[in-house]
Amino acid sequence: MLYKINSVFIFLFLYLVPFTTGETCVRYTFEQGFDELFSDKFGFCASLNLPPWELGQYRTLGIPAPNAQSTSFMAPQPGNESCTSSFLFPMQRGATIEVTLYLDPVNILDEFTFIVAQIDPRSGIAWLSGAYSFSPFPWPFPSGWYTSSFPVPGINTPEGFLMVWAGGSLNATLLIDSFRVIPPGMDESFCRLYEGNMSPLPALKYKVPETIPKLKSFLKINDKS
Ligand SMILES: *[C@@H]1O[C@H](CO)[C@@H](O)[C@H](O)[C@H]1NC(C)=O
Ligand SMILES: *[C@@H]1O[C@H](CO)[C@@H](O)[C@H](O)[C@H]1NC(C)=O
Repeated sequence: MLYKINSVFIFLFLYLVPFTTGETCVRYTFEQGFDELFSDKFGFCASLNLPPWELGQYRTLGIPAPNAQSTSFMAPQPGNESCTSSFLFPMQRGATIEVTLYLDPVNILDEFTFIVAQIDPRSGIAWLSGAYSFSPFPWPFPSGWYTSSFPVPGINTPEGFLMVWAGGSLNATLLIDSFRVIPPGMDESFCRLYEGNMSPLPALKYKVPETIPKLKSFLKINDKS
């Protein structure tokens, strides 16, 4: 069963900005509430049985944060892989999910996979509607901050969640600073990750391609669209 988070909780830790009816900007910056809002204990991530993502602090890492208001990030287990599922949020077909991540790869296998799961409102059953892999390809791949984006591919559902599966070499650096979900038609300036947008570092833009068909069938992705 999927866990539910009450809305009071969501308001404590997330910014949900209603735009017009049915359009909600969702933002999460890993500053608070990580253990309550993310879980590696259900669904696809649970089946992988990997060590958990960990929260880290920029001040102990020696990499400057992508924004002056950002202090923490999540990172997969060094030298291994980690998988986690987010809190539930509305999924609108054509919304853009944008993940701010840092990658300093050692080889081409140091990668992130983002999986979009949507919940059928009638049955309550989740299905995977899309998978996107951010791989350091072509090699050599420049290290640094990326804003990686990909669309919600399925139909509109009141609830869905994002799974993040990533990992790689012991000496690679992979981390996720934040993500946001920009509804279709909303200007991204109405959905800023950090309130003041103070001194953001430049990040390279990267459109994450859909994963290869082999991975799609492994993940049992079916398109309800
Ligand atoms: C990764 O973690 C799993 C689960 O804890 C463990 O069984 C596996 O040996 C680890 N792999 C490496 C390469 O450390
Ligand atoms: C990782 O880095 C350490 C220190 O820089 C080095 O000694 C080690 O050989 C590296 N390991 C791998 C697997 O590249």
